[in-house]
Amino acid sequence: MAGKQRKPKAIAEFGDFQTPSALARAASNLLARLGIQPRSILEPTCGKGSFLAAAAACFPQAASVIGVDINQAHLNVARTVTDRTRVKLRQGDFFKFDWQSVITNEGEPWLVIGNPPWVTSAELGVIASDNLPEKSNFQGRIGIEAITGKSNFDISEWMLLRYLDWLKGHRGTIAVLCKTAVARKILLHVWKKDVRMQSARIYKIDALAHFGAAVDACFFVLELHPQARTLNCDMFNGLEDAIPTSTLGFLDGHIIADVEAFNRQRDLLGPEIHYIWRSGIKHDCSKVMELVPTDRGYANGLDEVETLEDTFLLPMLKSSDIGNGRIHCRSVMLVTQQTVGEDTRHICRDAPKTWSYLQRHSALLNKRASIIYKNKPAFSIFGVGPYSFAPWKIAISGFYKTLKFVKVGPLDERPVVFDDTINFLSCWSEDEASFIEDLLASDRSHEFFHSMVHWDEKRPITVEILKRLSIRRLAAALGREREYARFTALKDLPLETAAKSKADMKGPIAA
Ligand SMILES: C[S@@+](CC[C@H](N)C(=O)[O-])C[C@H]1O[C@@H](n2cnc3c(N)ncnc32)[C@H](O)[C@@H]1O
Repeated sequence: MAGKQRKPKAIAEFGDFQTPSALARAASNLLARLGIQPRSILEPTCGKGSFLAAAAACFPQAASVIGVDINQAHLNVARTVTDRTRVKLRQGDFFKFDWQSVITNEGEPWLVIGNPPWVTSAELGVIASDNLPEKSNFQGRIGIEAITGKSNFDISEWMLLRYLDWLKGHRGTIAVLCKTAVARKILLHVWKKDVRMQSARIYKIDALAHFGAAVDACFFVLELHPQARTLNCDMFNGLEDAIPTSTLGFLDGHIIADVEAFNRQRDLLGPEIHYIWRSGIKHDCSKVMELVPTDRGYANGLDEVETLEDTFLLPMLKSSDIGNGRIHCRSVMLVTQQTVGEDTRHICRDAPKTWSYLQRHSALLNKRASIIYKNKPAFSIFGVGPYSFAPWKIAISGFYKTLKFVKVGPLDERPVVFDDTINFLSCWSEDEASFIEDLLASDRSHEFFHSMVHWDEKRPITVEILKRLSIRRLAAALGREREYARFTALKDLPLETAAKSKADMKGPIAA
């Protein structure tokens, strides 16, 4: 299972964390309590066989029990814990095995059970492993994800999608231990592609206790049936629980974390036309572009101290600053453009020392791999626009596990910019920022967002979730629509004038 601690290469490569027998038994017993009655049982990456043994014992009526694994040594152990007369073991590579013939040769209903490998494509990349499907850019992951290089995926996710393919048009249950985030991705696929499903359940498991891994993990149970359809998934706190704590749902292509809470706040659903959530500036070169003011000049991440003009330096805050409410200038960002794609050559004239600094570090800046910098002016940044220079902002860290919206005003008379881990709204005045801060701090806003946010995600608070809230509707619900009208009338001023406000706000950056 993918924990933070360093794993031996073979374990990492094969995501090889064998399930303790007690956990496999508890999970199989749960399936029996749910009334699942498989005729055939398959464990496609069965390892040392704890799930095979438990499932075979729980479902004595199953006519066929098959286990496959890439590792013959594991299969030898599995042989010792399973009944030779009932359980067939085969050595094979998941990515090459002829699964379809297994499915068509045995009778349904199926139970595809187990604990697929816990490893991501990025982790396999680091150790140069090819324990991967041939075509890795699956699910049409194109657009901004591919552009910014975020096409990393869990191998188990890819495998679970194959399980769905095998069972298409058949009756069967998929019951696996996996990351909760992977379970949600599979649900999203099921709902988007209208895969026929009778029920879905997610049971939290304590991955730290069972596998020594600090990840949010679950036992994920999907009952597939060609004639059934449901858009809900019940969430349970543990394998022994019969009453769900909440229900996941599907809305407009997204997974709702808590359907009941969402329904109480659904009148706040956007779109919002005046207040647009943005992410902070992306430059992918913090060693050069982020500097700390010192008595001797600006210190960069290469242990160099530079004398630079203030012209293109703006105070910056990071996720940790916003999360800790530390709103003072510890560092500055070199903001080379006011809009994406703007020509940067004027920096040579306007701030020669800054230009020379950039030139001297052009090798590092030119090395930035992301396609967003290709065929763009030298020293380009991304996620910059007039909104970046608005004097007031309401910010929230994408990484933090709380809904903390923070009002940020100018520092040293300059607008504050953020790194790309922060999401923000721009405002023209402190009054406007206070108004938005109040709205977002309300119980209604909090319940709305809580019903959407999946807190176990690495970056739970995304622009995509934030923009689902209609601030206009929220203001109306809280009796503050007149203020909304007043502030948004001002907002109809072209935002581009913010660039001017940046020019008006020059001043030294304090050390
Ligand atoms: C997380 S372990 C789980 C083992 C077993 N299912 C259990 O629950 O104890 C993942 C298993 O996947 C197997 N595995 C990894 N890559 C594989 C591949 N390409 N083909 C078949 N099995 C593979 C490993 O050998 C390992 O036994």
